[in-house]
Amino acid sequence: MPPGTAIAGRVCAGTELAELSRSERFLRACRGQEVDRPPVWLMRQAGRYLPAYRETRSGVTFLEACRDVDRAVEISLQPLRLVGTEAVILFSDIFVPVVGMGVPITFSPGPTLETPLRSPAQVEALAGGDPRAEVPYVFEILGALRKALAADEVPLLGFAGAPWTLAAYLVEGRGSKEFGAIKRMLYGEPELLRELLARLTDMTVAYLRAQVEAGAHAVQLFDTWAGLLSPAEYREWVLPTHQRIVAETAVSGAPFILYVKDSAHVVPELFQTGADVVSLDWRVELAQVAERFGAETSLQGNLDPSALAAPPEQIAQRVQDLAEAAAPARGHILNLGHGCLPETPVEGVRAFTEAARGLAGVR
Ligand code: CP3
Repeated sequence: MPPGTAIAGRVCAGTELAELSRSERFLRACRGQEVDRPPVWLMRQAGRYLPAYRETRSGVTFLEACRDVDRAVEISLQPLRLVGTEAVILFSDIFVPVVGMGVPITFSPGPTLETPLRSPAQVEALAGGDPRAEVPYVFEILGALRKALAADEVPLLGFAGAPWTLAAYLVEGRGSKEFGAIKRMLYGEPELLRELLARLTDMTVAYLRAQVEAGAHAVQLFDTWAGLLSPAEYREWVLPTHQRIVAETAVSGAPFILYVKDSAHVVPELFQTGADVVSLDWRVELAQVAERFGAETSLQGNLDPSALAAPPEQIAQRVQDLAEAAAPARGHILNLGHGCLPETPVEGVRAFTEAARGLAGVR
């Protein structure tokens, strides 16, 4: 990047920003304060593309790995050591607290229910959503991670699945391209769906607040499948859940990151939630969104995960392009537009984080 090129958050001419810890850089970028360069991490950075993950994960089921505090701490930290990411995200899954609500879910490899959740009796039977009692190990993992990261001042992220995405899998019983079952419920039994989403929203608020109390510096809400809705349906069924979750989590003081995949048709709605950071997928023009909405909200993203298959110098070029595109925004966190894939090359992930560090000292 030529000297003088702006990057999001605008670099301070003084020297003190050169000393930013990873936590400070990350939290400042979330809040739109000056930084020396964008921080970098990757969604699904702990996972099957890493040989070390496959080793640590072997011999137990996925949910056992999520419940085993030492193992989950080890998996959470692997990307920090192995690929140079600058934030650690809790190793768990968006369905862990739902299992805590008494829903029998197995992973093969995605979440699967033997009996999809479609009746009023099943919705009524959902446990109260007191995550501290139902999934205490999640908060033990966060506490242990916060301790492990304190000396190096690395930011720790908690997360939750958004009610729409959780409900889409629960009602379908498994992953799907179209998630037709929840759409049939939306049109055929709207009151039942409203009740299901309300319960999941309550649980999500309690879950995210408890994560911050247990040590998460910031939290991210994943709404992977909300983009399947039309803009009008999205405004009715999804936007209010985001608004409630953001507002009720804000009391914790931790920055809130909102990620919605396939959201190009509802971009203005992403910025009506009060989230501190909006995480975009690669189908949106980062520069345009930064111009239009970036003054009030920081941005995260948005490289196509498949682009990590490119040679390192091309990845570096894309990182530079992303940083420049995001420059009009008050802050930018470099990330992918969706999670790492099992076939993502480890070298590509390293090239991505190294390129981010190469942006240091610009201007
Ligand atoms: O980002 C991270 O590294 C933290 C951990 C994390 C996992 N899942 C671990 C996981 C996070 C943040 C998630 C979120 C998640 N889980 C989402 C939202 C984000 C997204 O990727 O869309 C969704 C929809 C799920 C549901 C889920 N869990 C699916 C569809 C799958 C299987 C397919 C896949 O992508 O791996 C899982 C299982 C899962 N969750 C694995 C991991 C590491 C793989 C399990 C294994 O080891 O076999």
